[in-house]
Amino acid sequence: MAGNAWRSLLTQAVGVAVRKPALASASFSRGVKTVTMIPGDGIGPEISAAVMKIFEAAKAPITWEERNVTAIKGPGGRWMIPPDAKESMDRSKIGLKGPLKTPIAAGHPSMNLLLRKTFDLYANVRPCVSIEGYKTPYTDVNLVTIRENTEGEYSGIEHMIVDGVVQSIKLITENASRRIAEYAFEYARNNKRTSVTAVHKANIMRMSDGLFLRKCREVAENYKDIKFTEMYLDTVCLNMVQDPTQFDVLVMPNLYGDILSDLCAGLIGGLGVTPSGNIGANGVAIFESVHGTAPDIAGMDLANPTALLLSAVMMLHHMGLHDHADKIQTACFDTIRDKKVLTKDLGGSAKCSEFTAEICRRVQDLD
Ligand code: IPM
Ligand code: MN
Repeated sequence: MAGNAWRSLLTQAVGVAVRKPALASASFSRGVKTVTMIPGDGIGPEISAAVMKIFEAAKAPITWEERNVTAIKGPGGRWMIPPDAKESMDRSKIGLKGPLKTPIAAGHPSMNLLLRKTFDLYANVRPCVSIEGYKTPYTDVNLVTIRENTEGEYSGIEHMIVDGVVQSIKLITENASRRIAEYAFEYARNNKRTSVTAVHKANIMRMSDGLFLRKCREVAENYKDIKFTEMYLDTVCLNMVQDPTQFDVLVMPNLYGDILSDLCAGLIGGLGVTPSGNIGANGVAIFESVHGTAPDIAGMDLANPTALLLSAVMMLHHMGLHDHADKIQTACFDTIRDKKVLTKDLGGSAKCSEFTAEICRRVQDLD
């Protein structure tokens, strides 16, 4: 595919509700905007610094408010995020977040999940688009997973019934199912995508997935311009690894989305190059890289900031700053296609700071 065709495909894919004067863009259209930056743990601070440098080179009209997110025990023993982080997000409505470590069996819940819950970020959006020049066994992947982000298997309701028997409750509600279905169809329409596939196991979980699927069908009735299909999760996995180009927008309950979005990220090169956005009502959103904290290389200037940078590009689209988004994305993909300055995971030998400087140079050249 020629360079420009690629570029517009990618722009189309990484955008969130692109180029539509949505509620969110209306309130974000003028002046300098504040974004809450949560650098995170491990390589988080390095890749966050890289993104801020690139935003500066692109003259993106953003000021950052840095906040740490650690587990705090509030009144009544409930886990919460630190008040200064909550207060910043309440004001800015927009967050960018690096990886946060979740110590297994640490006593507190995952801060990633607590953030989604605190701000009711009900839609998780992960575009997976083949990156030109970064070879994987797949080409022309161009799909988006849209994951229900607040309930399902992630409800956290578990208990022991008797010794040796544990029950975990998968909660599915009509309201959450309807709003994620509506989000998926709106997304498809706004991003000029043609089909939405509901991914489910309603043959087994007849009531819970059955309800989810019913809401998808109902919503589909209002979007006759978008092709609607429904498929079993296992069939989607099989077909996905055989030929991912048959998929466009996929919508599904929480855990299926967690797993399938990783599978799809694998098709295009992994979590190091895959962006993610958590979207709530009234413009509230947190964009994040979904790779780990990589403690083995933390502080060594070796990390790849691409996933966080592309998440930040999604954020710029969400804020209506499409030109800045396009410029940064072009500089990033040109750098990768050119192959001269790449971090180790991308097959090169450059440091994070060198890769970042190369993107900055290209961003400035685009002016
Ligand atoms: C993701 C992650 C999270 C999840 C973890 C970090 C809690 O895997 O964003 O996909 O399971 O949702
Ligand atoms: Mn995951």
